[in-house]
Amino acid sequence: MASAQWPCLILALFSVLVASGFPRSHARLLEKRSLLEGEVNGIDVYSTKISCKVTSRFAHNVVTTRAVNRADTAKEVSFDVELPKTAFITNFTLTIDGVTYPGNVKEKEVAKKQYEKAVSQGKTAGLVKASGRKLEKFTVSVNVAAGSKITFELTYEELLKRHKGKYEMYLKVQPKQLVKHFEIEADIFEPQGISTLDAEASFITNDLLGSALTKSFSGKKGHVSFKPSLDQQRSCPTCTESLLNGDFTITYDVNRESPANVQIVNGYFVHFFAPQGLPTVPKNVVFVIDISGSMHGRKMEQTKDALLKILDDVKEEDYLNFILFSGDVITWKDNLVQATPENIQEARTFVRNIQDQGMTNINDGLLRGISMLNKAREEHRVPERSTSIIIMLTDGDANTGESRPPKIQENVRNAIGGKFPLYNLGFGDNLNFNFLESMALENHGIARRIYEDSDANLQLQGFYEEVANPLLTSVEVEYPENAILDLTKNTYQHFYDGSEIVVAGRLVDKDMNNFKADVKGHGAINDLTFTEEVDMMEMEKALQKQDYIFGNYIERLWAYLTIEQLLEKRKNALGDEKENLTAQALDLSLKYHFVTPLTSMVVTKPEDNENQMAIADKPGEGPVDVVPPSMAYLNSYQSPLTPYYYVDGDPHFIIQVPEKDDAICFNIDEEPGTVLSLIEDPITGFTVNGQIIGDKRGSPNSETRKTYFGKLGIANTQMDFWIEVTTEKITLWNAAAQSTFSWLDTVTVTQDGLSVTINRKKNIVVSFGDGVTFVVVLHQVWKKHPVHQDFLGFYVVDSHRMSAQTHGLLGQFFHPFDFKVSDIHSGSDPAKPHATMVVKNHRLTVTRGSQKDYRKDVSIGTKVDCWFVHNNGQGLIDGVHSDYIVPDLF
Ligand SMILES: *[C@@H]1O[C@H](CO)[C@@H](O)[C@H](O)[C@H]1NC(C)=O
Ligand SMILES: *[C@@H]1O[C@H](CO)[C@@H](O)[C@H](O)[C@H]1NC(C)=O
Repeated sequence: MASAQWPCLILALFSVLVASGFPRSHARLLEKRSLLEGEVNGIDVYSTKISCKVTSRFAHNVVTTRAVNRADTAKEVSFDVELPKTAFITNFTLTIDGVTYPGNVKEKEVAKKQYEKAVSQGKTAGLVKASGRKLEKFTVSVNVAAGSKITFELTYEELLKRHKGKYEMYLKVQPKQLVKHFEIEADIFEPQGISTLDAEASFITNDLLGSALTKSFSGKKGHVSFKPSLDQQRSCPTCTESLLNGDFTITYDVNRESPANVQIVNGYFVHFFAPQGLPTVPKNVVFVIDISGSMHGRKMEQTKDALLKILDDVKEEDYLNFILFSGDVITWKDNLVQATPENIQEARTFVRNIQDQGMTNINDGLLRGISMLNKAREEHRVPERSTSIIIMLTDGDANTGESRPPKIQENVRNAIGGKFPLYNLGFGDNLNFNFLESMALENHGIARRIYEDSDANLQLQGFYEEVANPLLTSVEVEYPENAILDLTKNTYQHFYDGSEIVVAGRLVDKDMNNFKADVKGHGAINDLTFTEEVDMMEMEKALQKQDYIFGNYIERLWAYLTIEQLLEKRKNALGDEKENLTAQALDLSLKYHFVTPLTSMVVTKPEDNENQMAIADKPGEGPVDVVPPSMAYLNSYQSPLTPYYYVDGDPHFIIQVPEKDDAICFNIDEEPGTVLSLIEDPITGFTVNGQIIGDKRGSPNSETRKTYFGKLGIANTQMDFWIEVTTEKITLWNAAAQSTFSWLDTVTVTQDGLSVTINRKKNIVVSFGDGVTFVVVLHQVWKKHPVHQDFLGFYVVDSHRMSAQTHGLLGQFFHPFDFKVSDIHSGSDPAKPHATMVVKNHRLTVTRGSQKDYRKDVSIGTKVDCWFVHNNGQGLIDGVHSDYIVPDLF
């Protein structure tokens, strides 16, 4: 039912061309062009895919377009997508020649400053603006170097609302040129089962497209695919123009055997409610119609036409009246009258004779209608079990009588007193729609725009149909007390046939055994309570069987609904309350990556992180000490297929020896600030050095202090490439160019066989072709931890392309070596047996221990058993540990 029109959304895209830090010949001639001109100018859009996944009405749509600049100069490429106004953009990424720039959702003010900066610097920028009735347009233009490939990927999500018995998904199709691979693919999953499914394109009849369009459904799954070949896209057999231009609409409904459906996943639930087969509650309708001079002409004719059609549909048990307002107020009858055939006949004559005239007195028109409804109720002129509705239509702003919007709102609110809903229809553009919407919302109704067009009468009539059949009034959805948190709106004045009530929330106890919900409402004949009970075990089983299309869809659906309702409430809030609602909506928008009116998506050079969200730290992620193994675990460790080497924690080095199916470990204790050589390969040119940091206490006692790696330098002088990783940021240098990324980014940079992937707040994977792969793991510690601080772990995952001359604390072990362990005996700690190890011609006393591998899971880690070599690895490493101290990181 929401008709909210989102204000303009801003997407800022800038610094793209300088972001990579890799020198490229972007400084070519800029030449404005758009995809409109087709391939002619060298831009080949060779693929467009719209992929829609709908799970329980929640739609996740991804639009991907790929293009290549075949011209020999840089070209500007634009990407336009029209998406529903009710949708939230959740992601946008740009990939230029393999380098991906992800979008980040930021608070609007912050994003706006960056956007303005980008625009003032002449950088490309995109934005979203209203476009047509149901859609808004997302546009972005990027300058693409000659020969470069670009991929745009836009993701948006929305909750499909049920109107007149079906869910509708609109996709605007407008490729503007023939596209080799054009595809729309929709997968729908509905736990209640799909009862109908259809898809059609406004630009062509389904027959003509023949094999290009397929649609099918069975049980819980539905599928729609639209894949026109190049020839099928042509507007005529020899044309190069595309006939794909218009709406592609998918409609469906689900089985209604049960009035409700509850789904629970990961502690979030959603409750859909749409009972069938109930009698319609009789309604008392007052139409308050603007007949001021501005309605003159087509608008007046269309309004009359719609009212006449509505009169055909009014049920005999309903009561109605017409109130016309201009400078004055005219009523058809003094009181509401029943819709008997005689009265309907008389009403038709009245409507036909309506004449436009004068000014616009919205206040008096509405107040007259409201008092008439109130009086009818008080004087028992209307049935006890009936419901009241007031529908107001205007095409302009109040300009006579009480014309101050806040005062009108106050008068109307006081007069209605929450007893029935007010629906405001705004005809055309020449009016203050915010005022109409705000007034409707605070009186439990909605506002709808009627677009001035040849079908305005149908729009009016269509609105009436939506509210024509109330099946329940005063609907309340109740859950057991203290079992539910963060509930979305759960009271509704009406449930209209063909619509659906959706309530979502969070369970206090994720592991509760059964879930119960009551929906209470007044029907035409009696009061009803629908009880829905869910056996959690069964639900879990059912969910396990289904491969849900995306796992956290209920949580996202909940977030979507909550944000939508907070934004709606915010429209009528003031002062502190407004700030509170804004803060809540903003928090959720940022958390769930939704571009709402409070946020923007920014695609940017990732080094600018001063305005990023704060890092949320969980306690308990500190470094883990050597854990004593139980003897039973001694040989239980499954060795991986390839050897690996890493250093993590207080620096604990671990060397896995696959031939032995065992591992050796040692610690290095050095002063904070010391830089150690981990890998050095004179042949391939790789070096990796790490700098030690201390803990927060700064204790000089090497027995008790903790040290970690706080900074790592990975370099290849031959490739002219350096990466510096700290716990704050990642800096890349390639020749003279520098790029900086934050740990809050998720980005992949690829260049000449090198690939660096930053996985937000987790790790960085650095690969040099096939044969050398390092992983740097970020350990984030609770910021207020008294002792520990953030640190890094370094893992060599693949080293097979490194030379036999590789050295360093880890590198020296890349070549096969042997060791023997004998004389295992228990020491002072029975859990840590001692043994004798012969390695590199030394005889050492070693102790069994275990360390953790954090590559897969940074908070828990995987246990790795090892033989611990004491005294900074003395005897195991070549020379002494101080031989590995180097002056600086590179
Ligand atoms: C955004 O899209 C990119 C590319 O598909 C993906 O790697 C990334 O995880 C997405 N980000 C979010 C927040 O979903
Ligand atoms: C908003 O107000 C509620 C209760 O009045 C409070 O619990 C909540 O913390 C506030 N939220 C914000 C973001 O200020």
